[in-house]
Amino acid sequence: MTREERKRLIVLVTGANGGIGFGTCHRLLVQLSQRRPPDAQPFFTSVLPSSELPSVEPACDLTIIMACRSTQRAEEARQKFSKEASQKYPYISHTICNAGLATFSHLHFLVFFKQCFESPLKAVKHPMFNIQKVGVLSPDNLGMVWQCNIFGHYVLFRSLQPLLSAWTARCPSEPARVLWMSSLTKVATSYQASKAQLDLMVWELSKQAKANRSDVQHYIVTPGITATNVAAALLRPYILELLMIAFFYFCRFIGSPHVLFSTYKASVAASHITLTPSRYIPSTAAAHNAARAKAQNGYGATANGSTQIVFPKFSAANERWGREYVHIEPVTVWEQHPDEGARAIERCERLYQAFLEKEKAGVNGTANGHA
Ligand SMILES: NC(=O)c1ccc[n+]([C@@H]2O[C@H](COP(=O)([O-])OP(=O)(O)OC[C@H]3O[C@@H](n4cnc5c(N)ncnc54)[C@H](OP(=O)(O)O)[C@@H]3O)[C@@H](O)[C@H]2O)c1
Repeated sequence: MTREERKRLIVLVTGANGGIGFGTCHRLLVQLSQRRPPDAQPFFTSVLPSSELPSVEPACDLTIIMACRSTQRAEEARQKFSKEASQKYPYISHTICNAGLATFSHLHFLVFFKQCFESPLKAVKHPMFNIQKVGVLSPDNLGMVWQCNIFGHYVLFRSLQPLLSAWTARCPSEPARVLWMSSLTKVATSYQASKAQLDLMVWELSKQAKANRSDVQHYIVTPGITATNVAAALLRPYILELLMIAFFYFCRFIGSPHVLFSTYKASVAASHITLTPSRYIPSTAAAHNAARAKAQNGYGATANGSTQIVFPKFSAANERWGREYVHIEPVTVWEQHPDEGARAIERCERLYQAFLEKEKAGVNGTANGHA
């Protein structure tokens, strides 16, 4: 970004009252209070013109919009949020779609011990012992998990598109970004399935954005694995929470880079993708060659160079003693379901239009999930 283009970033973070959302806000503020924010520095040598790493100064000032739900005002907020945002803010430079939930019910101890016996590292990354309730519906009559983790954010993105475009019009060299908070876990349950579908949708949104020369860029980020309220329902009584933290430490000690112990550290990928100039973010092809560059930037970054990476998923990771960095996670699901993202976007769009129609007509009630 040139000096003339230095502007105030306006970053909207959903689910910002706690967990990773709060950690992301905290991290962005700490980063932008530094002369040379580590998270804004290039991590990936594959996208640098030479081995010489350039130094990136803080892009600009920062306003964070912490989008949180309030039980009493949730419905009101859903209807009024985008109107309020457009009245209050002339543009939005970044939207971090972070809010998320899972309908966890209990731990299956037998499966836990079996998985741990076979491979603790696999157990922590792909836990099959976190049992989830099925069939939980939202007041809109949609799947609760799907609505919160996918559709709600799709609606938010569509409603904010004019504000995102307004940023790009001001700063064409750094188009507005939407960061979608995903997960590393691959298990066939509603939460993980919602994240897998999200990955496919974001890949598709990114392809469409390139094809249509859209003024918004899309990225997938994840916080690795971090103790937050998302799994609170699994960890009662309190002794289970302590055991889970001990298990996390054990897994980190035996070599899992994915377990992090603070939401600040777990936000490194979201913060980096928010702050670094887009030319330093590996795109589809460049991800193949992404490599660690820790000498200059202090954190470093990795990718395993797998030919299966066709779209990068930027994940928080850390070294054994806790130093965090950004890692590119290899994703295989792209090849297996090449058209699924487009289908999911089409369905979200139809549903979104159905809700708009109902709102216009002043009809209360649901869109029935069949639009
Ligand atoms: N922690 C991890 O290990 C991990 C791993 C992979 C991905 N993630 C993802 O990271 C994101 C943040 O999760 P977290 O770990 O920080 O969990 P968290 O501590 O439970 O925070 C979730 C946030 O989302 C909000 N939220 C939940 N349901 C909502 C709804 N229906 N409408 C609006 N807001 C809602 C919560 O608001 P309230 O406080 O009002 O409930 C809270 O602010 C999620 O997308 C999650 O899937 C987390």
